[in-house]
Amino acid sequence: MSAFVVIGGQWGDEGKGRMVDLLAQDAAIIARYSAGDNAGHTIINHMGKFALHLVPAGIFYPEKLCLIGNGVVVNPAVLLAEIEQLESRGVGTKNLFVSDRAQVLMPYHPVLDVVEEEARGDAAIGTTKRGVGPAYVDKVARQGIRMGDLIDPDALRARLELVLPVKNRMLQGMYNAEPFDLEELLQQSLELGCKLKQYVRDTGAIVREAIGRGEKVLLEGAQGALLDLDAGTYPYVTSSAPPPQAGGAAIGIGIGPTQIERVIGVYKAYMTRVGEGPMPTELLDETGHILRGAGPAPEFGATTGRPRRCGWFDALASRYSVQVNGVTGAALTRLDVLDIFPAIQLCVAYEIDGERMESFPSTTAALERATPILEEAPGWRESTAGVRTFDDLPPNAQSYVKRIEELLTCPVDIVSVGPERDQVIIR
Ligand code: GDP
Ligand code: IMO
Ligand code: MG
Repeated sequence: MSAFVVIGGQWGDEGKGRMVDLLAQDAAIIARYSAGDNAGHTIINHMGKFALHLVPAGIFYPEKLCLIGNGVVVNPAVLLAEIEQLESRGVGTKNLFVSDRAQVLMPYHPVLDVVEEEARGDAAIGTTKRGVGPAYVDKVARQGIRMGDLIDPDALRARLELVLPVKNRMLQGMYNAEPFDLEELLQQSLELGCKLKQYVRDTGAIVREAIGRGEKVLLEGAQGALLDLDAGTYPYVTSSAPPPQAGGAAIGIGIGPTQIERVIGVYKAYMTRVGEGPMPTELLDETGHILRGAGPAPEFGATTGRPRRCGWFDALASRYSVQVNGVTGAALTRLDVLDIFPAIQLCVAYEIDGERMESFPSTTAALERATPILEEAPGWRESTAGVRTFDDLPPNAQSYVKRIEELLTCPVDIVSVGPERDQVIIR
């Protein structure tokens, strides 16, 4: 067993990128296993500030392999732009490889994402409009195109001749949108395939061989448990298959579940959410506004720039994600954001239809009726940004972390007190 997984324990943007940038030092391979460029992982280290959408956050270690696994949907243009941007800033990408089994996110997928969202009207999900949902729909419908096809002109033509007429019928017939021209799309895709060919490999085989040699592999999750198709707040979720859950990591990289020895769940010290869907502890008042703006990295989406909805820590939602992911240890991020608050609230139960509930409800309808039952913790009103040991944290901050540990029912092994690589307490 030598793989370990880093997952998001809430609604995404917990600081997974920042954690992977730190924990990559313990691994020989860092691999993304799900999602697409709907993910936005922010990293601040000795090389500068980066927002990665497809490239794993281990890319800043030149001696390590970075893989984009079979479970990811890859927009070739976005990947090429990301590679170019990294190279232009002195970050080498010669050790980056993409699975030949990864699905290609085609130009019609973002178009479908936009028209489908419009058609939902008031029930819109608030997607990132990157085309990720429609690309996974095609994967599951067996209408997808894989990286292996993109770099093979004959295979690509055969796939597009089969698939494009279906997509065009949808675009024109259902949404009154412009169809795509086969030859034009083929040409454009082949050019992208040509540029990406040098990166395409059987990444699953690379990982299995590395594990066979006893090397450590870090599997980087995207999104969060509460955005998962099965476990999350359906239908306000992302469409990733395999899912963002730790259980999806093995599938999305091509190993067995018995190879995973640890699951690190990343949790914010409070909650955020981008897009629509229930969020019981959301603060629509001045406190929510302060939470969004406090600290060195205000809460705006790394992919879409949308303001994140902010609220107090939700113990029910977070504990549920510990359970469904089998989290073995938590990393608590953005504790420093709470430095300014005289008092901090934690949601320890919900009231739903007059009844107290201490476990996360399974239906979105119930969650929409949930009122948070809050417990107050005293603030510490002192900067934690420079603290590097747990004992040096203000006593009230120590108590807050310990209370979260109790509520999560798993140890908090790492506390992050700033966005930079070294702003961290390892217990
Ligand atoms: P990800 O999608 O899970 O990788 O998270 P994002 O990068 O989308 O959002 C996390 C944001 O919090 C980024 O702006 C990070 O730079 C920032 N961040 C991460 N850890 C900390 C922390 O401990 N304190 C503060 N203030 N910001 C942090
Ligand atoms: P990282 O990896 C936060 C949300 C969108 C929307 C829903 C569906 O940075 O944590 P999609 O475009 O996936 O069909 O949108 O999921 N969403 C995220 N929210 N962080 C993410 O990724 C997200 N990826 C998708 O806002 O509500
Ligand atoms: Mg993000």
